[in-house]
Amino acid sequence: MRNNRMVLLAVLAAVAGASSAAETAADNYKTYCVQCHGSQGNGKGVNIRDMSVQPRDHTDAKAMSGRTDDELFKVIKEGGLSIDKSVLMPPWGDTLSDGEIRDMVQHLRGLCKCRYGS
Ligand code: HEC
Repeated sequence: MRNNRMVLLAVLAAVAGASSAAETAADNYKTYCVQCHGSQGNGKGVNIRDMSVQPRDHTDAKAMSGRTDDELFKVIKEGGLSIDKSVLMPPWGDTLSDGEIRDMVQHLRGLCKCRYGS
């Protein structure tokens, strides 16, 4: 009986540990984006002092609502140049899958608390 309970707890812990798409996107942001975009997503990462073009403040609803989800997807996958922005925004298509990039777009929508056109 006691053993069964232990097994059940282990299974529950494993299920709880499996991260959701939103958690994975937040983790990816912490791993790949904060150096420039900042741990709060406000564009104040550790790299910015010497960057000639400053990273986007992802909490800026006014600027972020000017971008469609497709544009955000494109700039994350293919880098700044793909939407006529700075080469200092790297392309992440070799690092993140299309699914992870889609989830990242939703993560950015959470940071700006905005949608395209709103
Ligand atoms: C090496 C620094 C650097 C890293 C790392 C970085 N970015 Fe950027 N990012 C930039 C810069 C600089 C810009 C602004 C480019 C410009 O304005 O021309 C930018 C712009 C953007 C934009 C465009 C916003 C807009 O509408 O203008 C998005 C979206 C974005 N970054 C997302 C991300 C995501 C998601 C990650 C992590 C996967 C990431 N960035 C990692 C430097 C970086």
